Amino acid sequence: MIDEQTTPKETTPNGETVAASVHRFVHPSLPIDSIVCGDNCDVLGTFPRECIDLVVTSPPYDDLRTYGGHEWDFYGVAWQLCRVLKPGGVIVWVVGDQSKDGSETGTSMMQALHFKTLGLRLHDTMIYATNKPPMNDRRYQQCWEYQYVLSKGPPKTAELLTERCAYAGSPTAARYRQADGDLRDRHGPGVIGETKPRENIWWFPSGNGKQEAVKHPAPFPLRLASDHVATWTVEGDTVLDPFNGSGTTTKAAHELGRRYIGIDVNHEYCEEARKRLEQQLLPFDAVPVSG
Ligand SMILES: C[S@@+](CC[C@H](N)C(=O)[O-])C[C@H]1O[C@@H](n2cnc3c(N)ncnc32)[C@H](O)[C@@H]1O
Repeated sequence: MIDEQTTPKETTPNGETVAASVHRFVHPSLPIDSIVCGDNCDVLGTFPRECIDLVVTSPPYDDLRTYGGHEWDFYGVAWQLCRVLKPGGVIVWVVGDQSKDGSETGTSMMQALHFKTLGLRLHDTMIYATNKPPMNDRRYQQCWEYQYVLSKGPPKTAELLTERCAYAGSPTAARYRQADGDLRDRHGPGVIGETKPRENIWWFPSGNGKQEAVKHPAPFPLRLASDHVATWTVEGDTVLDPFNGSGTTTKAAHELGRRYIGIDVNHEYCEEARKRLEQQLLPFDAVPVSG
C-alpha cells in the first residue's frame, strides 16, 4: 500500500529517509477541524489517500461494551487507515482483550499483526497502565492495555518526551558487554546525563470521570492523547480519531495547535466531543500524572 516510488523524501538528522514535509498540505475535501457522525469505514472512504499525520484511537474491545449497539469492521477500518495515513504518519491503537471461556482472546495482538500485513511497521508496543476495578478470577489484577504504535515507514516526527535520569551526574559503567559476551571499555563522557527518553510504559489514572466529567463509558485520559500528539506531530499537522467517543483525541489535538477530525457513529458522543472542544482546559488537565 505504500507508494515508495512517488513519495517525496527528506533525510532526518540520524540519516533515515522519510516523506518530505510537503505532505503537510490539507486536502480541500477533508472535513478538517470537525466531528463527523457516521460509520467510520463509510466516512474514511470519502477521504483522499495520504492526508492524515497521526491517528490516536481506541476501538471497542471485543464485546466488552456495546456503545449503543453499533457494529464496526476491523479489516475495513484498518485498510482505510493505512490508505489515508501519510508516509511517515503514525497510528496509536489503544486496545485490550476480553477473557472468554478462561482465555484472553488475543484480538489486540492479531490486530497489530494485521496492520503489519498491510505494510505498516510495528514501531513500538507501549503499555497504558492504569487503575482497574478489582477482579477475582484466578488471575493477577489486570492493570494495563496495549498502545500499539504503528508507522508508515519511519515516523516523520518523533519528539520523544523525556524524564529525569534517577542517577543523573553519576559515573556510567566503565565497561559494557558485547554480543559475544566479552566486556569492552566504554568511551565517551562517562557521566549519566540529566534526562533520557521516557520509558514506554505510561501510567495514568483511569480516564472515566476523574479528569473531566465526560459522558462516555470509556474515555481514555486526555494526557495519553496529548502526549502522543506532542510526540508524533508538529503544529498544523492533522490528527484523526475514527472512534472519537467523547473527543479526547480531538480535544488534545486542538489544544496543541493541530488540525483534527473525529468520527463516531453515536450522535450523543459526537455532541459531547463538540462541547469539549469549546471548553477551556480544566486545571487537572495541566497536572503531570506520569509515574
Ligand atoms: C472505546 S470508545 C472510544 C473512546 C474515546 N477514546 C474517548 O476518549 O472518549 C469506542 C467508540 O467507538 C464508537 N464506534 C463503534 N462502532 C463505530 C463505527 N462503526 N464507526 C464509528 N464509531 C464507532 C463508539 O460509539 C465508541 O464511542
